[in-house]
Amino acid sequence: MALDISIEHSVDIAEVTHLINRVYADAEKGLWQPGTDRTNVAEVAAVVQAGELAVARLDGAVVGVVRVQRLPGGEGEFGMLVASPEQRGVGIGRELVAFAEGWARAAGLRVMQLELLVPRGWTHPVKEFLREWYTRLGYREVRRDPFELAYPALQPQLATDCDFVVYHKPL
Ligand SMILES: CC(C)(COP(=O)(O)OP(=O)(O)OC[C@H]1O[C@@H](n2cnc3c(N)ncnc32)[C@H](O)[C@@H]1OP(=O)(O)O)[C@@H](O)C(=O)NCCC(=O)NCCS
Repeated sequence: MALDISIEHSVDIAEVTHLINRVYADAEKGLWQPGTDRTNVAEVAAVVQAGELAVARLDGAVVGVVRVQRLPGGEGEFGMLVASPEQRGVGIGRELVAFAEGWARAAGLRVMQLELLVPRGWTHPVKEFLREWYTRLGYREVRRDPFELAYPALQPQLATDCDFVVYHKPL
């Protein structure tokens, strides 16, 4: 498998936005009001402009992305992790997480963070898979914040009460 992952500065913004929204519409089904998109071209363009978007290409085609950033507190964080639905289970997600961790180590960061949006009071199968997988990769829950406190402006777009679970892994 000829998988290349790198921070890209001139990627097709519309294509990436569509991939992220298509993947999240399925992965977060039931958490958001119908028609709520995960992101938009302006946000993705800003992420690319900031040099924070890593793109996975398989034989040249975009098959996944992850956003990497340095938080004000000095932790690394990855988010917007997606693998193309047509290429699941072949290691693209694992390689993207490894890239994000390598990026943070190279920047001298000692902790990697991720946030998982989970429904409060019931279990979402995709989130359960992610919790188990991230735990296997060495991530541990450090905090759980009510979504309405973290992002009050977005609360009306939720379809069910949710929490943000924050995970850390020492690098
Ligand atoms: C999360 C995601 C990126 C993983 O991508 P992927 O390329 O399919 O994942 P990989 O092939 O690297 O596999 C990841 C792990 O899941 C396991 N796995 C993959 N497919 C599986 C399946 N069908 N059944 C059980 N386990 C499976 C792999 O064994 C691997 O575990 P390991 O690292 O312990 O060996 C992808 O599922 C996705 O886009 N999900 C929706 C978006 C999302 O929720 N993102 C995370 C937001 S925090």
